[in-house]
Amino acid sequence: AKLAGVPQVLAGRKVVITAGPTHEPIDPVRYIANRSSGKQGYALAEAARDAGAEVVLVSGPVNLPAPPGVRVMSVETAREMAEAVEAALPCDIFIAAAAVADWRAQSDAAQKIKKGSDGPPMLALVENPDILAGVARRVAQRPPLVVGFAAETEHVLDHARVKLAKKGCDLIVANDVGAGSEVMGGAENSVVLVSRDGEQAWPRLPKSEVARRLIAHIAGLRPDGET
Ligand code: CTP
Ligand code: CA
Repeated sequence: AKLAGVPQVLAGRKVVITAGPTHEPIDPVRYIANRSSGKQGYALAEAARDAGAEVVLVSGPVNLPAPPGVRVMSVETAREMAEAVEAALPCDIFIAAAAVADWRAQSDAAQKIKKGSDGPPMLALVENPDILAGVARRVAQRPPLVVGFAAETEHVLDHARVKLAKKGCDLIVANDVGAGSEVMGGAENSVVLVSRDGEQAWPRLPKSEVARRLIAHIAGLRPDGET
């Protein structure tokens, strides 16, 4: 459905967005998670929809309603998220806004782990697949535009530049999620856009406004990431 007054800059384009945290099970009652609320990813899905795109939102566990007119694929773990993204391809634009758990427990115990006489259990971790890097490095069906986020608590720009190169994406949206920033879970975000062309810092804005501007920015980029 068209929204009055919103330029249909993504009409005819398919956008796949990841959002929210992932939950990595330890046993049937426990999991590893993080403070992501999913708000920025959901706001992006709504902004892309309003700009006329076909939107697939691959979402980890969040407390947000499914945006009308958006196809939501609900997942729990990083590996499920990777599978759902794979199933949602091909697309024109991929945006990785999820706070994917970097590690999962090496074994997911079939029964609740009990307190024992051996003291606390050692939790062995293994690394999860990097969904963003996987999509950006694809040979077949590499989306023409691949956008990642960088959640940092220090040296935001330096880390973001490294991530841009390391992951092979076209744009990194860096945000400071340090203590006191109130970005994770909050309603506002202050971001810096990092691409091969350079950086631009945006003022602190509501996540819905960051989303709207980001969609407009992305729509103005050529598929190879140049402005
Ligand atoms: N990301 C992903 N899959 C992962 C980890 C991260 O798709 N397993 C994506 C995120 O959605 C985000 C980007 O990669 O778009 C950067 O995530 P971030 O956590 O900031 O970076 P990492 O590469 O995980 O590095 P670190 O957490 O050590 O800073
Ligand atoms: Ca990470």
